[in-house]
Amino acid sequence: MTEIIFVSPDGTRYPVEAADGASAMQAAIRADIPGIDADCGGACACATCHIYVDGAFADALPQPETMEEDMLDFAFDVRPTSRLSCQIRITPDLRGLTLHIPTRQG
Ligand code: FES
Repeated sequence: MTEIIFVSPDGTRYPVEAADGASAMQAAIRADIPGIDADCGGACACATCHIYVDGAFADALPQPETMEEDMLDFAFDVRPTSRLSCQIRITPDLRGLTLHIPTRQG
């Protein structure tokens, strides 16, 4: 298990123990983190698991696949740090990964 942190738009921090190999989205859903809808269940087909990667981890993640980039076009308030949390695989080296939740999804 690897601890990652979700941060809501009001600054509330939600530390979550994520299973290695699972997606960040799955960890959020299991922990009932508000603001991650994940309507498609992780199929990269809804963009309702949109998050912003904290700057300290900008280079720690693999680059998004084309499918993720295309789906991000449908997300609300996309920024350079935007990712789909269902496409982020948790590994032990991501301990402390901090993901900011947008004010709304879709
Ligand atoms: S859960 Fe639908 S795109 Fe991530």
